[in-house]
Amino acid sequence: MKRVLSGIQPTSDSFHLGNYLGAVKQWVELQDGHDAFYCIVDLHALTIETDPALLRKRTLASAAQLLALGISPEKSTLFVQSQVPQHNQLGWIMECLTGFGEASRMTQFKDKSSKVGADSSRVGLFTYPMLQAADILLYQAHFVPVGEDQRQHIELTRDLAGRFNSRYGQTFQLPEAYILKTAAKINDIQEPTSKMSKSSGAVAGVIEIMDAPEVNLKKIRSAMTDAGREVKYDMAEKPGISNLLTIHSALSGQTIANLENEFAGKGYGDFKAAVADVVVEYLRPIRAKAMELLEDEKHLLDILHSGSAKARTVAQETIETTYKNLGVVL
Ligand code: TRP
Repeated sequence: MKRVLSGIQPTSDSFHLGNYLGAVKQWVELQDGHDAFYCIVDLHALTIETDPALLRKRTLASAAQLLALGISPEKSTLFVQSQVPQHNQLGWIMECLTGFGEASRMTQFKDKSSKVGADSSRVGLFTYPMLQAADILLYQAHFVPVGEDQRQHIELTRDLAGRFNSRYGQTFQLPEAYILKTAAKINDIQEPTSKMSKSSGAVAGVIEIMDAPEVNLKKIRSAMTDAGREVKYDMAEKPGISNLLTIHSALSGQTIANLENEFAGKGYGDFKAAVADVVVEYLRPIRAKAMELLEDEKHLLDILHSGSAKARTVAQETIETTYKNLGVVL
């Protein structure tokens, strides 16, 4: 079985619909037929100032949501990055393999550091991609399911793996980016030409998995629509309606063409009520399941500890080969 590995940062209390449809849903599908490792990358979340109580809460909330959304601890290895110290061990080696110029060309670093200025950016933000390379290479992953924005980090990971292998002998599997399908790309429901995102969008444009049903109902009822009154998929002329059609279709499984037929002759109001209904009913059991998992913290920690123990076994093997090939005295 081919191995897949991916990571998600515990940076908020709730994932949003875009995270689910753009990534986690496909992680769930990949559990069948692959040896899947999914990591809550809490160390990566430390590149900005964090509040200890929030970090803890969000790490647990992320785990509960991943499980509620269908990541199964029987099928996958779900674990917390900081519980596997081998990530830091290999991270340092990756840093020692990366050129300063090479790291400076990472667009995510350039974007994020330009916001606060290079002088106030953390060194951890600069070395972030090398820790990410370690996340992947430790598990000898074949595929890394990520969004398009992570492609450059996966390319760097491949370069580092190839560099190490040719200098010190075969050690790492060269991973491939498995770019997640953009078919279900979900946009902000208030600014439907931008991607749904908590860092750039307003609260009203983002559907949160952990929000109460009434909150999401209201948000969708007041979603931005377009000129005209026909429910038709047309990203250029009707980005608002098209986005809502995408959301409905992704959750209900109905085709967009079917939905256009169903709402022919009806107004935007009826359509938005139907979308709200589909979203709220879809998320209701997921939110309930996540809340149930959060109520029994000991059980949730047991799941994470056993995932992390499995991850450590695999990671330790890679560290031993890496150290041996480097000439470290063991
Ligand atoms: N950088 C990724 C993101 O922002 C998160 C991540 C960290 C990751 N380590 C990873 C993704 C390893 C895939 C594999 O989305």
